[in-house]
Amino acid sequence: MATRTLIKHALASAAPRDAILIQGWVRTRRDAKGFSFLELNDGSCLASLQVVADADIPGHDQIHRLTTGAAAAVEGRLVASRGAGQKWEVHATRITVVGEADPSYPLQKKGHTMEFLRTIAHLRPRSNLFGAVFRVRSRLAFAVHQFFQERDFVHVHTPIITGSDCEGAGELFRVTTLKGRPDENPGTDFFGKPTYLTVSGQLEGEAFACALSNIYTFGPTFRAENSNTARHAAEFWMIEPEMAFCDLAGDMDLGETFLKAMARYTLDHCAEDLALFARFVDRSVRDRLAFVIERPFQRVPYTEAVEILKRSGRPFAFPVGYGLNLQSEHERFLTEDHFKCPVTVFNYPREIKPFYMRANNDGKTAAAMDLLVPGIGEVIGGAQREERLDVLLANMRQHHLREQDYSWYADLRRYGTVPHAGFGVGFERLLMFLTGIPNIRDVIPFARTPGSADF
Ligand code: 4AD
Ligand code: MG
Repeated sequence: MATRTLIKHALASAAPRDAILIQGWVRTRRDAKGFSFLELNDGSCLASLQVVADADIPGHDQIHRLTTGAAAAVEGRLVASRGAGQKWEVHATRITVVGEADPSYPLQKKGHTMEFLRTIAHLRPRSNLFGAVFRVRSRLAFAVHQFFQERDFVHVHTPIITGSDCEGAGELFRVTTLKGRPDENPGTDFFGKPTYLTVSGQLEGEAFACALSNIYTFGPTFRAENSNTARHAAEFWMIEPEMAFCDLAGDMDLGETFLKAMARYTLDHCAEDLALFARFVDRSVRDRLAFVIERPFQRVPYTEAVEILKRSGRPFAFPVGYGLNLQSEHERFLTEDHFKCPVTVFNYPREIKPFYMRANNDGKTAAAMDLLVPGIGEVIGGAQREERLDVLLANMRQHHLREQDYSWYADLRRYGTVPHAGFGVGFERLLMFLTGIPNIRDVIPFARTPGSADF
């Protein structure tokens, strides 16, 4: 028997082939007098392969069992297709039923809503749309590694279980082996101290940047944020580069270069899947990516951004003013209506930012930056880090952090401290931007959101 050929490779063949083996799942079957048509899909690409099976070949007597969703193996010849739209089809010489599909198979028809497909997250990768989403997700993960590896960044696996709340927002999932009994001694907990799922690999990443110069992390991140929005997940993946001997300007440069490179990669390597998104999700997705690649981004200090918002005359739901966080409606106004392109807001008030950010000379602002994109708002958040030991220790006191808990972090300032900077990219938000998919639940295989951890 021939070895398996993925449909993607069969469709890219330069010439007909005599013996080919295709394995996949039946999308549709049509029986005519003396032969049958099968549409077979194996997920290697968006397109299905058309199979023509004459009634006299081995296995055709079982073809009635190949209903939508069933798994099949087809041996045959790859020949030029007579039908429109596809270059190749397979003329079967043998058909094997690998696994039947119960008639209750829920993906019988096209045109299911995203909401319905979310309830069958275990089957939705078999739909055209979600097959495309998760192929793009895989390619983009590769593109992220390629981007940093080509620039000599070292990939660091930072811990998933930590004792620190990097962002200081208190959105931690506790990790414990305690049973919650009243007589239990907390000192008997597995690690002998409170531990959590990480909200960021940054602090540990800094330790490695202060040794290997340029590093990045790419891993799962957890936040018990009780916000049920289209842009928040309790479990998401974050990419966090950190650069030694780098300031805020260098950090903003890398953020912009990164976003442009991801847009370029998607246009160059995901054309077939992007065409599907353009048809069914977001008509302008390709234009937007081209625009992001070509156009310079804008940069604006926080103080000026606040003035722009105040002058806008927009009836925002949340108040605007110096010292207040920018809400997503504000971020979207800046990038969609005012600048009409991605924009980096920098130098935020110190009091709304975490302890590790570097204090600017004005004494009021921190060297922070957020990169905002149309349709989403913040996709990247980062900062230059406080490298001066005395200022860092004062920040920690102000944020009520105990020095002994962060002594290792302070050590990085005791021994050969250097200016350094980095940022975090929400991988799912990046994917939303690049595909036009409007809900974060639809770019992660199995979403975890408040009240929902199915599958
Ligand atoms: O802005 P954040 O909170 O920054 C940090 O965690 C820094 N320690 C990163 C660093 O400097 N190394 O998060 C970074 C990015 C956000 O811009 C957003 O894209 C994403 O992570 N993000 C989320 N994505 C999905 N669901 C959530 N609940 C998210 N929270 C943050
Ligand atoms: Mg942020």
